[in-house]
Amino acid sequence: MKEDRIYNFNAGPAALPLEVLEEIKDSFLNFDGSGMSIAEISHRSGWFNNVINDAIARTRRLLNLDDEFHVLFIQGGASMQFCMIPMNLLREGDTADYVNTGTWSAKAIKEAEIQGNTIDVVASSEDKNFSYIPKNISFNSNAAYAHITSNNTIKGTQWASYPEIDGVPLIADMSSDIMCRPFDIDQFGLVYAGAQKNIGPAGVCMVIIRDDMLKRVPDMLPSMLKYTTYASKNSMYNTPPCFAIYTVQLVMKWLEETIGGLEKMAEINLNKAKILYETIDSSDFYKGTAQPDSRSLMNVTFRLPDEELEKRFVEQAMESGFGGLKGHRSVGGCRASIYNATPVTAIEALTDFMKNFEQKNG
Ligand SMILES: Cc1ncc(COP(=O)(O)O)c(C=O)c1O
Repeated sequence: MKEDRIYNFNAGPAALPLEVLEEIKDSFLNFDGSGMSIAEISHRSGWFNNVINDAIARTRRLLNLDDEFHVLFIQGGASMQFCMIPMNLLREGDTADYVNTGTWSAKAIKEAEIQGNTIDVVASSEDKNFSYIPKNISFNSNAAYAHITSNNTIKGTQWASYPEIDGVPLIADMSSDIMCRPFDIDQFGLVYAGAQKNIGPAGVCMVIIRDDMLKRVPDMLPSMLKYTTYASKNSMYNTPPCFAIYTVQLVMKWLEETIGGLEKMAEINLNKAKILYETIDSSDFYKGTAQPDSRSLMNVTFRLPDEELEKRFVEQAMESGFGGLKGHRSVGGCRASIYNATPVTAIEALTDFMKNFEQKNG
């Protein structure tokens, strides 16, 4: 931890690896010997071509993607994907399955329905305030796709494994857990993630799309809303968010070269989450809000005995150098977002603070 930096538990935009920030700082005025900043370089230059191609190559290696898959960078955040997915992938008469596990799933459903599509919400955890991931779901075998939110940033739940649906491509909003662990891409037709939680700054969304999905894209869509436009132009039909993509490249490099890949990342993340959940479980003062078998490795949500104590906790934490612990404004309580870039030392420091706070206020 550098002296002038806090322990950052923000939900997104969130902590980035210090090594990445330092590399950006060191190369900011003179990128790769160009005499220009990455923020000043043409997206048509060799310099930027190397950046975007390396970001894609590293993503491919980390996720074991074969040639069937395309890695795209699109603006408009994950929220734009809520609209582009049904717009591009549902044709006349098609229906799609959605699982509702909270706010972001609900927004994805809304954007699909608003376009006049028939959506089947095949499962929901709304009955228990979205505190769990539904099990034994009956998906429709004739659905054009099935959409899930792999990690529910607000409620602190995460799919431990993904449903296997014969013949139906799975689509996942992985905004808050992409690259936190390895997963088998083969059952997915499309995966998307706003970069600003686990893989970069705000301003770009990574979309991984399978070739056969691209074949569904209707001709008569505006160019900027078509996946085929991004796939055929290496995400550079128009000016891409160069700085954001550059940062994603560096995060991928960090994952490969400093962490050593996603198996290693998963091990680190499991250990971090274990330390924090054990602190919560061993106390009567803190209460986890997600059901244990649905708990997220990335967003740890918990309550204190009352709202006044929660307010004091968040304030005193901030004074002690722990930022971002307030729960989402829609649910209250507390949340520690412990994405890939949050080091185990930050979790250890936080659990010490929590134990101390409990001793004084419990
Ligand atoms: C799981 C998930 N999906 C979608 C979004 C919305 O992302 P964006 O702001 O990039 O549109 C968020 C933002 O917090 C999220 O956590």
